[in-house]
Amino acid sequence: MKLMREARLSIGPARTQRTNPWAGWPPATHLAPYITLQVVVEGEPDPASGYLCDIHDIDGVLFDYVQPRLFAETQRGPCAGEHLLSNTWGIVSHRLPPGVRLQELHLAITPYLIYHHYAGAVGMISITQSFEFAAAHRLYCSDYTPEQNLQAFGKCSNPNGHGHNYILEVTLRGEPDRTTGLVYALPKFEQLVHDLVIDSLDHKHLNLDCPEFTRLNPSVENITRVIWDKLQGKFHPAVLAQVRVWETPKTYAQLNA
Ligand code: NI
Repeated sequence: MKLMREARLSIGPARTQRTNPWAGWPPATHLAPYITLQVVVEGEPDPASGYLCDIHDIDGVLFDYVQPRLFAETQRGPCAGEHLLSNTWGIVSHRLPPGVRLQELHLAITPYLIYHHYAGAVGMISITQSFEFAAAHRLYCSDYTPEQNLQAFGKCSNPNGHGHNYILEVTLRGEPDRTTGLVYALPKFEQLVHDLVIDSLDHKHLNLDCPEFTRLNPSVENITRVIWDKLQGKFHPAVLAQVRVWETPKTYAQLNA
């Protein structure tokens, strides 16, 4: 059984009172970096209580040990997410209750930049960056009759198209470089995704402006495949681990390595 607990931490000096309704610790009484940590643990729930562990025990480790360490690290100077995540893994994995194993750690530096580590993936860290693009499309198969298109795609086959604000999440995985401590340089990561994907799709009509979709129906599944093909093999020595495309807040398609 797995259990996830999320904590929001402000990386500032300690305070004495917990007052923040967003559950940040210490409370947001001043300007400080805000991070979100998701801790995924595994174990067997206790037959009597039904608890895998008391989530307040996880909070305690994050509030009392992780937050002060991260604050101390950031006081020393700019600190890469890879380093913060490795430190956090070391702290949390040694302080969980008996019988509870740390399986995953997700550290969100911003809502659009998340570092991941998984048990068993020794030395490997993943980075997810989110990007946005707006595009129009028409769901339409040239092999179908107009009636078949209407039946298959409904109003999404409207001849003049319709639009979405897509969210693209790209995940790279690799070992932090011994010298730089980075899995991949973030500015280069962002630039490559912009050059290879965003520039060619953003503010375009996919069927009309993008050669990839001249004959390929621009479903979110096909958009994900096209983006995967554009990005795969471009981030050496890191590897492309996952591409996820959100078409609406209710729908995404995803490919994994
Ligand atoms: Ni659509």
